[in-house]
Amino acid sequence: QTLDMELEAIEKGGYEHFMLKEIFEQPKSIADCMRGRLNASTGHLVLGGIREYANKLEGAERIIMIACGTSWHAALVAEYIFEELCRIPVEVEYASEFRYRNPVINEGDVVVAISQSGETADTLAAMELAKSKGAIIFGVCNVVGSSIARVSHEGAYTHAGPEIGVASTKAFTAQLTVLTMIALRVAHRKGSITERKYHELLVELEQIPSKVEESLKLNDKVVEISDIFKEARNFLYLGRGYNFPVALEGALKLKEISYIHAEGYPAAEMKHGPIALIDEEMPVVFIATRDSSYDKIVSNIQEVKARKGRVIAIVTKGDVLIPKMADFVIEVPAAHEALMPMVAVIPLQLLSYHIAVMRGCNVDQPRNLAKSVTVE
Ligand code: G6P
Repeated sequence: QTLDMELEAIEKGGYEHFMLKEIFEQPKSIADCMRGRLNASTGHLVLGGIREYANKLEGAERIIMIACGTSWHAALVAEYIFEELCRIPVEVEYASEFRYRNPVINEGDVVVAISQSGETADTLAAMELAKSKGAIIFGVCNVVGSSIARVSHEGAYTHAGPEIGVASTKAFTAQLTVLTMIALRVAHRKGSITERKYHELLVELEQIPSKVEESLKLNDKVVEISDIFKEARNFLYLGRGYNFPVALEGALKLKEISYIHAEGYPAAEMKHGPIALIDEEMPVVFIATRDSSYDKIVSNIQEVKARKGRVIAIVTKGDVLIPKMADFVIEVPAAHEALMPMVAVIPLQLLSYHIAVMRGCNVDQPRNLAKSVTVE
């Protein structure tokens, strides 16, 4: 017993919980994920696991992404990235829905299955169904040799290292890294982005670990905010564009480990429902970094403030407008909008972590949840 406890303490590397350790590991896990694959100065970008079927990806008429939970959120971000860079239509599917509805799969469709554990039963079954209909399947997994990795035709590992905390953190940012690399490679080979943009994005991607490192320095500020909101009964998370899936992920993290009801929404959809919930009791987290939807989200913040909602805004460093409206701001370093989810999610992971700890929750093993769901 004591030996087990000591071993666990060593594994936690001085952190109180695996989740916190894994959050802080992200600069390294993202860098590990790119190691040997990407070199911005030479323009090198190679994913060793995607060879024989690479032309299928480049020539895909449609990409269907299948996943569950946090991996599904990574797929949503990837949808925006692939459509923007590769000009290939993407559909993102919950594996559990896809597998039971006789989905249409045409020749020219490519399936991308995303899973940290590589063992999620619904994802596996959805892949097998797609395979039986003739689809070529690419797997994006963290666990080497897992079932999903084996069922895939080809794929790329995320190499984030073992993730122990039930709430996924470093696996998510590694998934985004891999999916971005795949999209950039496809876009470059297809010629759907300019040479200049390709190189610019490689450089930006290489800088992400240091931007994540900088975001982790926000920890103390996040602790303060967590203390103020730890008793809240509901939370709303809003974002637009690339930051919409980040809103979903922020809300999921909070409900998973702190048991506070939280909903993520695309900010513009607020007027079709969630706005009715806003009053002085309702904390609203805006992911409002400088990007192409910035002006729009500023209006959404004003709408929330007009109804006395309490706004916590994740903004780009140096923003002067939003701090005048929001109750609290968290400044993250500037990044290309397609890569911002990897940076903007960091304070949200920390927020859920600290609130859960303050509420006395079992952060690494939240009630009713499992790290890998091998039954349907
Ligand atoms: C479980 C975990 C989540 C995870 C989801 C999908 O619900 O608790 O953290 O996102 O499964 O798991 P996968 O291993 O397929 O990414």
